[in-house]
Amino acid sequence: MRRAGTARLTRLTIRRPDDWHLHLRDGAALRAVLPFSAARFARAIVMPNLTPAVTTTAQALDYRRRILAALPAHLKFEPLMTLYLTDDTPAAEVDRAKDSGCVFGFKLYPAGATTHSESGVTDIGRIAAVLARMAELDMVLQVHGEVTDPAVDVFDREARFIERTLAPLVERLPALRVVFEHITTRAAVEFVRGARPGVAATVTPQHLLMNRNALFAGGIRPHHYCAPVLKAEGDRAALLEAVARGEPRFFLGTDSAPHARAAKEAACGCAGIFSAHGGIELYAEAFEAAGALDKLEGFAALNGADFYRLPHNSGTITLLREPWDVPGHYPFAAEQLVPLRAGERIAWRLAP
Ligand code: NCD
Ligand code: ZN
Repeated sequence: MRRAGTARLTRLTIRRPDDWHLHLRDGAALRAVLPFSAARFARAIVMPNLTPAVTTTAQALDYRRRILAALPAHLKFEPLMTLYLTDDTPAAEVDRAKDSGCVFGFKLYPAGATTHSESGVTDIGRIAAVLARMAELDMVLQVHGEVTDPAVDVFDREARFIERTLAPLVERLPALRVVFEHITTRAAVEFVRGARPGVAATVTPQHLLMNRNALFAGGIRPHHYCAPVLKAEGDRAALLEAVARGEPRFFLGTDSAPHARAAKEAACGCAGIFSAHGGIELYAEAFEAAGALDKLEGFAALNGADFYRLPHNSGTITLLREPWDVPGHYPFAAEQLVPLRAGERIAWRLAP
């Protein structure tokens, strides 16, 4: 990292980062959001929760081609694919995925946990053979870590998932590498920190910058609603502390999840926050607030690549400490997309 400026850092150059958890959607929506990510990130793990879900290697390769076809000519970007696990995923799919060279993991959505998770796994016992094969072939498991039991308080679902499912799983399969996606709680930070080698976590910008009060600031805020839901201030502080210390098990995954405005501003609005327009800038704000801008590069450009055993990117990006006004909405196919911080400011800007 190179520094300029005196009292306060005003310009920050880091190795080109990657986004280890991203929703790009498909078709016109894909074309609308992809340039935001590709302008910032060299690579991204592209979530497979399309409708229908991306459950086979063949589907992932097709989706990858559609992403590359949607990429503007002046941008370089490598989609890293992951497959959506279902109760019926065959163990042989792990072999096909590995052989493709384009699939870098399998995503576990407990059925019903979040947006487009209907075809997810109903009982982890049903995919025991698939998980065993993943461990053998060193294929990464990405986990949406929430129990779906409706009797469990929504703010406790991540902590219960650790106890009931994740902790036993990582012990049962000691060779399986696991990314606990978009962690939101102190319990998750402590679990990841104390877990055996081969367990890591992604952290979103919203969970570093906001607590659950942001869901109710002056009225109900559908654009602050995501899964897992924002948590208490103590949880946010624990996440920020972990990344600010530069702990290598924690890395960048925006979970940027675009939905049309009408689907968010509804009686039953769906989960997902779009953040790709500030996909690195929002993290710079969080790291600056924690006095840890020198740790941003590791979090954004090194830790994740090391975990996935991929090379670090060549090239750099530069961030300027120049606040900019986020538009109220962006075009999104024939609809509108309301981004995080719509109508407000982001303190850092990506240098052109
Ligand atoms: C994601 C989406 O909209 O696809 N939503 C979200 O709130 N994060 C699904 C997910 O990652 O849980
Ligand atoms: Zn997600």
